[in-house]
Amino acid sequence: MTKIILSGCCGSMGKVVTSCVAEEPDFKIVAGIDKASAEEASASYPVFQRAEDIDVEADVLIDFSNPSLLPSLLNFGESTKTPLVLCTTGYSRDQVATLEKASEIIPVFYSGNMSLGVNLLIELAKRAAKVLGSRFDIEIIEKHHNRKIDAPSGTALMIADGVSSALNSEMHYVYDRHSRRKPREKNEIGIHSIRAGTIVGEHDVIFAGPQEVLTISHSAQSRDIFALGAIHAAVFLVGKSHGLYNMSNLLN
Ligand SMILES: NC(=O)c1ccc[n+]([C@@H]2O[C@H](COP(=O)([O-])OP(=O)(O)OC[C@H]3O[C@@H](n4cnc5c(N)ncnc54)[C@H](O)[C@@H]3O)[C@@H](O)[C@H]2O)c1
Repeated sequence: MTKIILSGCCGSMGKVVTSCVAEEPDFKIVAGIDKASAEEASASYPVFQRAEDIDVEADVLIDFSNPSLLPSLLNFGESTKTPLVLCTTGYSRDQVATLEKASEIIPVFYSGNMSLGVNLLIELAKRAAKVLGSRFDIEIIEKHHNRKIDAPSGTALMIADGVSSALNSEMHYVYDRHSRRKPREKNEIGIHSIRAGTIVGEHDVIFAGPQEVLTISHSAQSRDIFALGAIHAAVFLVGKSHGLYNMSNLLN
């Protein structure tokens, strides 16, 4: 039985993870973390408002919450030697540096997108960038529901980073063309965000060249894909030694 602490348990993803775990006999959520009140939580496990208050032992912690929670989760992981699966997006560069530092002590799994299909899309986009090279302009469009706080999505940045690493020239990211009055440069990747309705998550990578356009697309049809990815990551992480892991490690 793998015992899980679920951070952000009262949020949209927290609820999806809770229902996915309920269908898996080998997993159990033993505690949750959320600033929502216990009544609001209506969970079948104890909910703590702060990681510091948790008095339950677990094999792994899964987090879908908010970047502001990161310092307390890293403290909790390091002091209790609990592996962390961090799925929250919108971390600053400094925050990413702190989680990398923590991975020198405990196992940390961190991915801005836990879906198998999206991670495959990144591999395909890297291949396309290698073949098409700098002759093609690359733009990424991401669409999410109207409650999403951060923009662009962590996934859009993962795609851009993957494409950049595959190209030989240094690329820079352009998020806003509104204030720019000049033609697009060759070494830029445009990243555009749409926030509307209940869209679960859509990503298009456009390679536009002379007289032809290649678009690689992924559409998430339910949030279960992220929850199941997080549960797989948790299984993968338990028993691992310290280190920073991601979906590539899981897929390989
Ligand atoms: N990596 C992935 O594949 C993936 C997939 C979906 C969502 N996400 C990310 O997961 C995060 C959560 O998404 P969501 O849609 O469930 O959001 P949500 O707003 O519905 O839920 C977030 C939950 O975290 C709690 N929370 C926020 N700040 C807190 C704090 N300081 N202390 C305690 N609890 C706190 C909120 O009360 C809420 O219940 C976001 O960053 C989102 O982008 C990642």
